[in-house]
Amino acid sequence: MVPGSGGGLTVPMRTQVAVIGAGPAGLLLSHLLAAGGVDSVVVESRTRAHVESRIRAGILEHSTVGLLRSAGLGDRLLREGDEHRGVYLQWPGERHHLDFVDLVGRGVWVYGQTEVQKDLGRARDAGGQQVLYDVRDTAVHDPADPHVTFTLDGRARRLDADVVVGCDGSFGPTREVVPGNTWQRTYPYSWLGVLADVAPSTDELIYAWHPDGFALNSMRSPAVTRLYLQVPAGTDLAQWPDERIWDALAARLGHGQDGWELRRGPITEKGVLPMRSFVRAPMRHGRVFLAGDAAHIVPPTGAKGLNLAVADVALLAPALVALLAEKDPRLADEYSDRALRRVWRCTHFSWWMTTMLHANEDPFDAQLQLSQLRWVASSEAGARGLAENYAGLPIGF
Ligand code: FAD
Ligand code: DHB
Repeated sequence: MVPGSGGGLTVPMRTQVAVIGAGPAGLLLSHLLAAGGVDSVVVESRTRAHVESRIRAGILEHSTVGLLRSAGLGDRLLREGDEHRGVYLQWPGERHHLDFVDLVGRGVWVYGQTEVQKDLGRARDAGGQQVLYDVRDTAVHDPADPHVTFTLDGRARRLDADVVVGCDGSFGPTREVVPGNTWQRTYPYSWLGVLADVAPSTDELIYAWHPDGFALNSMRSPAVTRLYLQVPAGTDLAQWPDERIWDALAARLGHGQDGWELRRGPITEKGVLPMRSFVRAPMRHGRVFLAGDAAHIVPPTGAKGLNLAVADVALLAPALVALLAEKDPRLADEYSDRALRRVWRCTHFSWWMTTMLHANEDPFDAQLQLSQLRWVASSEAGARGLAENYAGLPIGF
C-alpha cells in the first residue's frame, strides 16, 4: 500500500483489498489475505477498545477453531478456552445431556468473541496490516471499479482498491451498493443477556424451555457466567433489576430441582438483543463482496452468527488471493453460491432452535415444542441432527 501525500483536501490511498469493518470477519479476512501475500486496509467506525470489549458470542464450532489454529491464532484459545463435548437440553422436570463428540465426533469451544477480537488485534500488531479505527462517513462507490471514502481525524480520505469487502455488520453501508434479494423474519421476543462475576453453575451449556420463556446458562471462564432470558421484543432494561433477572433465571433453569442450584453473583453487564433472521443474496456485486453479518443475521439460539462470519471469510480469503495474486477468478465467482449454502443451513438451524425453545403463548405450539425436545433427547437420529449442526459442518459444506 502506498499512502498518498495528500495534494488536495482529500488524502488518497491505495490497497488491493479495502475491508469495511474490524469485527471478526474483517480482521480475520485481513489476516488471511496477508498470509496469502495480498495487501489490505481495514476501516472501522468504532475505537479499537470498543471493538475488543463488545460482549457478544461465546461458542466456537469445531471448524472455526480449526481455522483459527491453522491461521496461527489458536494458542491462547487452546490455553484459556474450554472444550465442551455437548449441551444440556431441559424442560420442567427433565434435563438431558447431548454428547456431540459421541454423536458426530466433534464438540465446540467456549471462548468469547472479545477474546477472538483481541487475538486478531494482536496478530495484526505483529503482522502490520493497516486498520484505521474511529473513521466517520464511510461510503463505498462504483462496484465495477471501487473506492471507499471516509474521514479520519477530521480529514477526508479516499481509498482505492481492486476489491472492497463489506464486513460491516448488520447496519453497515456496503450492503447498499450490492443489489439483490432479501429474506427476513423478525421474532416477537428478544434476549436479555447478562454477564456475572460468579463461577458457572454447570459444566456445559443448558438450553432450557420453560412456559415463562427460554433461558440459557452459558459461561466465559471458571469465574464468569453468561446467562440469557427470553423477554418480549422492545423490553426496557429498566424493568429488569438484577433481583428480577436472577429470580426468572432460577425459575426457568430449575434451581432446586434434583439438588441443582443456580449460583448468583454481581452482574457486570446487561443488554437486550433483538432477534431476527436476515439473508441478502447474492453476496457479491462486481468487485464488492459481503461477508458475515453484513450479508446475513441469525437469531442467537444455536450460536451461529460468529461461526458463519468465520466460514464466509474462510471461503473468501483464498478466492481473493487467487483473483488478485494469480488472476484466477473461479473461486471468487463461486464465492456467493458456496457461502449461501452454509448460510441457509445455519439460517434454518437457528430458526429451528429458536422456534423449538421460545415460549409464544400458543398452547398448541407448546405441545409441539415439547414433543420435538423429547424426540431430540431420546432418539439418536434426532440428537445427531442437532449435534451435527451445532458442532458445525465442515468449512466448504
Ligand atoms: P460485526 O462483529 O458486527 O463487525 C462489523 C464491524 O463493522 C463492527 O466493528 C462495526 O463497528 C463496523 N462498522 C459498521 N458500520 C461501519 C461503517 N460505516 N464504517 C466502518 N465500519 C463500520 N452471535 C452468537 O453466535 N451468539 C451470541 O450470543 C451473540 N450475541 C450477540 C450480541 C449482540 C449485541 C450482537 C450485535 C451480535 C451478537 N451475535 C451473537 C452475533 C455475532 O456477534 C455476529 O454474528 C458477529 O459479530 C459477526 O461478525 P462480523 O465481523 O460479520 O460483524
Ligand atoms: C452463547 C450465545 C449463544 O447464542 C448460544 O447459543 C450459546 C452461548 C454465549 O454467549 O455464551
